[in-house]
Order: sequence, then C-alpha cells, then structure tokens
Amino acid sequence: PFLLKPSTPITYQEGDAEMEQTARFLASYIKEVTGYEPKVTTGDAGKGIHLSIASDIQNKEGYRLLVSENGVEIAGASNAGIFYGVQTLRKSIPAAADGIQVELPAVSINDYPRFPYRGMHLDVSRHFFPTDSVKKFIDILALHNMNRFHWHLTDDQGWRIEIKKYPELTQIGSKRKETVIGRNSGKYDGQPYDGFYTQDEIRDVIAYAKERFITIIPEIDLPGHQLAALATYPELGCTGGPYEVWTQWGVSDDVICAGNEKSMQFLEDVMSEIIEIFPSEYVHIGGDEAPRTRWEKCPKCQARIKAEGLKADKNHTAEDRLQSYCMTRIEKFLNSKGRRIIGWDEILEGDVAPNATVMSWRGASGGIEAAQMGHDVIMTPNTYCYFDYYQTADTKDEPLGIGGYVPIEKVYSLDPTFDLNEEQKKHIIGAQANLWTEYITTTEHVEYMVLPRMAALAEVQWTQPEKKDFKDFTKRLARLMKFYQRDGFNYAKHVFDLKVDFTPDVAKKAVVVTLSTIDDAPIYYTLDGTEPTTASLKYTEPVSITETADFQAVVIRPEGKSKVVNKKISFNKATYCPIELTFQPSEKYKFGGAITLVDGMKGNDSYATGAWLGFVGGDVEAIIDLGQETEIKRVATNAIVDMSAWIMGSTGLVVSVSDDNKEFREVAVKDIPAETNIDKKGVENYEITFDPVKARYVKVVIKRSPALPKGHAGEGKAAYMFIDEIEVD
Ligand code: ACM
Ligand code: ZN
Repeated sequence: PFLLKPSTPITYQEGDAEMEQTARFLASYIKEVTGYEPKVTTGDAGKGIHLSIASDIQNKEGYRLLVSENGVEIAGASNAGIFYGVQTLRKSIPAAADGIQVELPAVSINDYPRFPYRGMHLDVSRHFFPTDSVKKFIDILALHNMNRFHWHLTDDQGWRIEIKKYPELTQIGSKRKETVIGRNSGKYDGQPYDGFYTQDEIRDVIAYAKERFITIIPEIDLPGHQLAALATYPELGCTGGPYEVWTQWGVSDDVICAGNEKSMQFLEDVMSEIIEIFPSEYVHIGGDEAPRTRWEKCPKCQARIKAEGLKADKNHTAEDRLQSYCMTRIEKFLNSKGRRIIGWDEILEGDVAPNATVMSWRGASGGIEAAQMGHDVIMTPNTYCYFDYYQTADTKDEPLGIGGYVPIEKVYSLDPTFDLNEEQKKHIIGAQANLWTEYITTTEHVEYMVLPRMAALAEVQWTQPEKKDFKDFTKRLARLMKFYQRDGFNYAKHVFDLKVDFTPDVAKKAVVVTLSTIDDAPIYYTLDGTEPTTASLKYTEPVSITETADFQAVVIRPEGKSKVVNKKISFNKATYCPIELTFQPSEKYKFGGAITLVDGMKGNDSYATGAWLGFVGGDVEAIIDLGQETEIKRVATNAIVDMSAWIMGSTGLVVSVSDDNKEFREVAVKDIPAETNIDKKGVENYEITFDPVKARYVKVVIKRSPALPKGHAGEGKAAYMFIDEIEVD
C-alpha cells in the first residue's frame, strides 16, 4: 500500500490550469478526511500523487489509477478523465480516517464510462432553488461522475432566468400569487412565491460546474409550459389572455401562439441570450405536453397552417405539424448559431426536427423509435428515471409526492439500450434522471429524492452492463452513504430496511422466512408477538415456521433500530394440505397457485401482492385433502373488496365433506348479502360453523357476486373476486 501522509505532495503538469484545479480539489478532499491539506505543486511523478494526461487512453473521459508503495499516479485521456480518477481516489479513502495516516491499497485501475451523456435534471420553476442549492446539487453530480446538468429554467409556474431584452419576464413571470395545496386540492396557501437567477448568477454556476467537468444544458420549454411568459406578455398567446403565472400543477391548454410571428421572434430572442450565456452545444427546447386546443381555434395558427401547407394525415393533425414547424424553426435558428437541440419525445409526433436529439420520458418507446430513425437519444424513462416518484411502496411515512414507484432496484435495472441492434445502440448517447419539483420545496427534500437513487443511476451511466451486479452495488452503496452522511446530504435510507421474504415450503409444511439487509447488520426476531431486542433470537439462516406464530423482526445497528416487520402465521387443519381448484384463477392473478390458499399467511389490503388469488367468471371451488379422517366444525376464508378496481366479495359459502373425494355430503351453507356500496374497500372475513363431522376431504365453495351493483361504473358487469386463506378447524 501507499501511505498517505501530511508530507505527501500532489503534483500536476505545469501550465495546465484545469489540472491544477483538479489537484486542488483532491487536496481539499484529503483535507476533509484527514484534517491536513497536501501541498499542490507542479512536477513529475515522484513520491506523491501525480496527475498527468496520457495519450494512450482511448475513451476521452477514461483514466488510469495506479497505487504502489512508491506513489499514486492518476493519468487521464483528458482533464475530465483525471477528474474521475480523483473522484475514485477520493471515494477509496475511508469517509472518516482513524488517524492522520491513510493506507491506500496497491491497485491498478483502468476505467472509462459506458455513455458520454450522464445527466441529472432539476426543475427550478415549480419551486425555486437558489444558486447555493444548485451548487450543492452540482457537487452531488460530481461525486457520481455525472457530466451533464439539465437545468429546467422555465415553466407555467415561474420564469427563472433573467432575459435582458424582456426584463418583465422576471419582474412579472417569476412571481405567482400563491400555490395550490397538495395535489390540486382546490385550496391555496395564499403565499406569494417568486425567485429567479440573474445572468451573472447563472454564469457563476456555469463556471462552478465547468470546474467539475459538468456541462449545463438549459431548458426553455416551448411551445407549452409557457404560462409564465404568457402572463408577462399576453399577446404571445392565441387568445390574448389575460393569463396568470399558474398557481396549480398540470398541463395548461394555453400555449405559445405558433401562428404569431411576434411569438416566434420572442422565442428566437430568448434563445439568442441563452446561447450567449450557456456554452453548451445542446439547448433543450422542451416540446412536451403542448395541447393543440387553442391552435385549433386560433385564426393566426390556422393561417400559419395554411401558409406553410401543413396537412393532416391518418396519424397526425395539422396542429401536430404546427408543433413540428415550431420546433424545427427553433432548431434551425439554433443550428445556424452552431448549437443543437434536445426535445422531449413528443417531438416525434409529426415531422421530427431533423437534427434533434430526443429525450425519452414517456417510457422508453419514444427513445427506441427515435434511435431506429437514426436520431441520438437520451433515455430518461419515467418508469426508471423519475426521481419525483416514490422510492418505497410504503408511502405512509413519506413526504407527499406526485405518485409512481421507482425504487432503487428499478433504477439500477435500467439498460438504456434495451433491445436495439448494434447500429441503433450507438444512438443512445446516455441516460438521465429527472427531478420535477411540484411537491419538493426544500434542498433537503431534493437530496432525499435523489440520494441514493443517483448512485444507481451513476452505475447505469458508467458501468458496462455485464459488470453490473445489484448485490455488489448495495455493498458499495453502504460505504458511499458514509460520504453522504459526512458531507451533510439528506439521503433516504430505505435500502437499509429489513428485506423479508415469506415462502411456503409445501414438502416441509412450513413458512420459510428469509431476512436480509444490505450491510449484513444483525437481525433479531421473536415468534410470540413481542418486539425483538438484542436478547431475542438472532437471525443466522432462513427460519422454518411450522406452527402458529406472531413473527416480528428488526435490525439493530449502533445508530438504532429499523422499522419492525411483523407477520401473523396461522396453522390450522388445512394448512399445507393438498388443495385442488376446480375453477382456476385468472392468468394474471394466479401467482403461486392454489397452495397460496392454505399457506398459513393472510393477504393484506392490497390485492396485487401475490397473497390473493383473483377469480373472474365463476365460483371458487376448493377441495382440500386433510390426509386422514379428521374431525372439523369450522371453515373460514377472506376476500378483498375494492369496488373501484371492480373487485367484490363473496355472496355465500357451502361446505361439503367426503371420505373418497367422490361422494360429497353438504354440512353447512351460508348466504352473504352482495355488496351495494360502490366505494367499499377493505378485507372481508367469512366464517361458517357447524356440528362436528369426521371426514378426510373438505370441499369449500365460495360464491361470487352476480354483477357489479347499481351506480357502479361497471354496473351489471362481472366483478373479480380475490380470495385468500381457507381455514379448517
Ligand atoms: C415531462 O415530464 N413532462 C417531460
Ligand atoms: Zn395561435
């Protein structure tokens, strides 16, 4: 190993200011951990850490990191490569060093990114984040080897960038009178809200990002999401207004009037200032969620459609083509200034601006189609990359969010090239996650939404697919989180939750409980319903439960206890007995099959977890083989009712018994009134008791409801019935 000491110098090549800056970053990173700042000086490789450019490294962001007893060498194909080598060295030093001497293990690393575009987006319109917050966000990007920051600067709820030619944009357009409470509840907070960046502030942030090899891509979203500009200059809209900076969320019908030459001039003027400020080759011009409603009725827009000869065909309306006209026109303007455009995947509807790079957000299909057409593509599918979506299924303790569910595993599983062929794959230039901020008002909340999902995204962006391994990632993540903690980032800790799996083992007639944590922290459990402590049973291997138990488990770390996981397991005479269904559950909801009904575990209030079997079109008829003649006097079962999902309960039970599984004799019948409440949601328990009988086979018929009730959206139609656990005592 190399021993890092206070006397270790960092040397760089004379005359290279970027390399000097990177050397200074490294010195400051070492200082954060060790308390001393290594000397930064020009010079050749020696007894310290040496930075250099190496022309033999192919990938322009690639680097080599060599650590031996004699020194540390970081060589990059470019200064960006050196910067990534420095990030790796930084992350290899423990987050908190024990003493002032740090041992760096001997190593030889050759590393380079899979994709050239490794992005992260932030919406500053819905809520505004001052430059200090944005710089902290950029620091987080740098820690994850990201190189593009997509800055969503304008939207319906506020215009956030100073434009000298149109000063009213920030005097009027950056202010909204109040903000809706919750998810468009109709109630407002009465609090004026505003914020914008001056051009000088923006330039300062651009320089800050550049030092960290991050290019900022500005987005001016057009022709939709433009209410802030329309509120400022109503003549730019089709109706002339009046408009106001929006105080709620969603998609507005009011968009820029693409038939008005003055509006197009406005957009070009704004773009002229944007490219003066931002050196980025790419400018994002939006294009998403632009309803055609106003254009259909607007004489100017209709005149433009006529003058340009824009025609509807079977796939696109003339107004779709007007959107293409608008995007193409701005593209041509920017191309003429040496810039390129990015647009959201809606720009595929109509005639795609010819040189556009497509950002696929409504899933991946738009991006796949664009790559097949030969366009460059950045993958930001909402199903993997929308970090405004919830990161846990258990949302009751989460801050209010827009909805959705993108856990870290899902982010990690993204392969941005999907099933494209080799030629088409070359058009996928990278991936990005987006953070829309309707429900995110503070920097702490921003950090909570992006960390640690950004670490998973970073690996999608950087690592070759054959080297990805989620389990291995989570181990390294536990370490990276110590950096988050040290650097004061507010990160989510769901990955530390206890992971629990309850699997039926039919042969052993047992529920097998498997528990795990990403950091192999100690797990304790009880079977009697008491809360586990360090004095309880310690989990070492899967636990087989073969009798009724109230299972509770918890992780106990030095920092504290995790949430307690709890599961009631109930054994009765039918549990794990062979069971046959004469009418099968629907393909989509058959999950683990009939055994689910006698596995000792009851479903919770969600029908799609696999604990419930879903039937449609017939009664459930289950025949259970108790193995030998057995005395019984009670049968019980459960149904989940969720009328909004067309799921109703049962209308009756019939129990019969048999000694040979051929001749059955009826022992009990119960009628249950059909549900009439069209809003009903919950779990229903059914029970039937009778005089004790002896038999080997029990047949339970669970009758379905005849049809959805009066007043329901599906009135008269067949309902689903979801059943779990048949108990026989
Ligand atoms: C988007 O999420 N509207 C691009
Ligand atoms: Zn118009």
